[in-house]
Amino acid sequence: VRAVDWSEDHVRLLDQRSLPRAVVYLEIHDARSLARAIRDMAVRGAPAIGIAAAYGVVLAARSAYRADPERWRDRVEDDMRDLAAARPTAINLKWALRRMRSAFDRVAADPVPVLLAEARAIHEEDIAANRRMGALGAALLADTRHVLTHCNTGSLATGGYGTALGVIRSAFNAGTLESVYACETRPWLQGARLTAWELRQDGIPVTLIADSAAGLLFKNGRVSWVVVGADRIAANGDVANKIGTYGLAVAARHHGLGFMVVAPSSTIDPGTASGDEIPIEDRGADELLRYAGTDVAPPGVAAWNPVFDITPAELVDVIVTEKGIVREPDRNKITALLGRPAD
Ligand code: MRU
Repeated sequence: VRAVDWSEDHVRLLDQRSLPRAVVYLEIHDARSLARAIRDMAVRGAPAIGIAAAYGVVLAARSAYRADPERWRDRVEDDMRDLAAARPTAINLKWALRRMRSAFDRVAADPVPVLLAEARAIHEEDIAANRRMGALGAALLADTRHVLTHCNTGSLATGGYGTALGVIRSAFNAGTLESVYACETRPWLQGARLTAWELRQDGIPVTLIADSAAGLLFKNGRVSWVVVGADRIAANGDVANKIGTYGLAVAARHHGLGFMVVAPSSTIDPGTASGDEIPIEDRGADELLRYAGTDVAPPGVAAWNPVFDITPAELVDVIVTEKGIVREPDRNKITALLGRPAD
């Protein structure tokens, strides 16, 4: 499955709002529509958002160059801002835009060939990173038969293969992991709609649980690791991820389970000192108050819908990246990791 792809002259997105009911693709020809697709979560998941935005820069530069070949760099700025503002928490978005901007220096005339090559490189590097993390993480799960994962971190959330779900795929393919528990992930149901869909396609046994069932699952000894992705990792190792991750980390520590975060180094932001500095996206109350077009709460009731939370580094046992693993992460270990070449 490819959540994002470049197709001849435009971006093709698998519309994740329609899954698992229907497989629908959006054909996107301009940067403004791409920013809207990110905002409205047609494409979601930190690495996939970054890759989509990189292709969005190609669309923006193409239209700016057609309008004014001399001043395309100035004309592209509105679209760059629009893309950067589409979602606030996942740092991969800003990382990808920065990397695309640094490619501007290599453009002599028409920017499309250079920028498309850069966007494709970002995409392919993400898939390679996921494969590497899959191998590293699976080695840590060699004695593990059952894990819990949260949200969706698979092919749909990345360039392909997945971060936490990539580790799960690799551990299953190695013949050690037997099954996966997946939190449904209220309110957007990434676990129920997307993770269960991906795992079923791969023939990996998956059992869905209500988010609130995780504590009992841990107490009953059904899993030995929690394996999740990340939207941003701060310089001190604090992790922003889908709302509910923090509660899972607290409960995992209480029950003596391992807590693994799997993310490419593009998710680590040395410019964010700690989790306190990470902006948490609040989405509309309707995501809580309504389901499938029907009210599920009395009219007029207030709702608070933060869609990410921060897990402090001290609750994380290991961070797996393509550059290697970090046990008991802290500022020094994260700095050393970022200085390493890819593992
Ligand atoms: O709101 P979403 O669906 O974009 O949130 C996604 C997550 O929180 C994922 O766990 C995270 O992006 C890691 S995906 C490889």
